[in-house]
Amino acid sequence: MRAAQIVTCGRPPRVADRPAPSPEAGDRVVRVLAAPITPLDVLCAGGTSYFGTPDTPYVPGVQGVGTVGDGTLVWFPTDAGMAPGEGSMAEMACVPADDLVELPAGADPVAVAALGLSAVAAYMALTWRGELAAGEQVLVLGAGGVVGQAAVQLARVAGARRVVAAARSAAARERARRAGADAVVALDTDDVAELAARLSAACDGPVDLVLDPLFGVPAAAAARTLRPHGRLVNLGSSAGETCPLDSSTLRSRSLHVLGYTNTELTREQKAAAIGKIAELAAAGRLDAAHEAVPLEDVASAWHRQSTGATSGRLVLTPHPA
Ligand SMILES: NC(=O)c1ccc[n+]([C@@H]2O[C@H](COP(=O)([O-])OP(=O)(O)OC[C@H]3O[C@@H](n4cnc5c(N)ncnc54)[C@H](OP(=O)(O)O)[C@@H]3O)[C@@H](O)[C@H]2O)c1
Repeated sequence: MRAAQIVTCGRPPRVADRPAPSPEAGDRVVRVLAAPITPLDVLCAGGTSYFGTPDTPYVPGVQGVGTVGDGTLVWFPTDAGMAPGEGSMAEMACVPADDLVELPAGADPVAVAALGLSAVAAYMALTWRGELAAGEQVLVLGAGGVVGQAAVQLARVAGARRVVAAARSAAARERARRAGADAVVALDTDDVAELAARLSAACDGPVDLVLDPLFGVPAAAAARTLRPHGRLVNLGSSAGETCPLDSSTLRSRSLHVLGYTNTELTREQKAAAIGKIAELAAAGRLDAAHEAVPLEDVASAWHRQSTGATSGRLVLTPHPA
């Protein structure tokens, strides 16, 4: 079968012929229809992530959508790059049957794959870790990324009264607007006080919950918009591995700064979240900008994801229609 494979960590994958998967007891072979290239795939394949350096060669891809058996549509996760084993960026993948999540008939494989674990993170960080309640005001940072676009829409689904978005590029701000944000703020300064003032001006009073895939200056500024006992859930560090959060902001309002990772979810939580994401997508209430790319073009697509030169999630299609 054709598959993308990482030969050298830190270099884009190349397409090669690989043996078809040989399932063990309890495994199913999935005919892969859609495999997104996500920040996590790039992080793991870089060889310097907290998961360690993966053995090479390996097939990357921590998730995908495909069919099993008589054509049942499923979403599936893999541990590729985080633990030994092969991932989703191939014509076929071998997955423990218990990990498969059946999707609603008629779901769009590419659209669901584009949302995937990024939307799961947005959903669970808002509702489970962030305990979003109906009527609250939410500030979403990095709102032009897949996590951010999903968070804007999912906050609305959860009953938020106002959703303010912040994003870096003009294109990202436009994606946030299309996702339905009530107001959109530019992240174009490293001055924490100035950014905090701009964010507060776009909000209707103090913020209840900040959803933060960025950290760095944007998170420090966003913390200053929170009400007493407000929550900030961090799930990524696209803007910085550290954050100039000042103690007076933190202690004067007894803020809750919370971390979130999908890896903490149980199989059942992950399956339920993907089911919800797919249901909302099928109902036209959730989507993320994306672009389908043939498997053969994985190297250039990977490079675009690594350098931020995309206008949405790039989704590989090993079996284009
Ligand atoms: N904790 C978890 O379980 C979990 C799960 C999924 C994702 N994540 C993390 O969440 C983050 C976002 O993921 P994603 O899937 O949304 O990624 P994505 O779709 O690739 O989007 C990344 C977004 O980050 C923005 N960005 C990058 N550098 C920035 C900076 N210095 N300042 C402001 N914005 C910046 C980009 O803005 P422009 O469009 O303006 O370039 C882009 O819109 C990643 O760090 C990812 O690893 C964590």
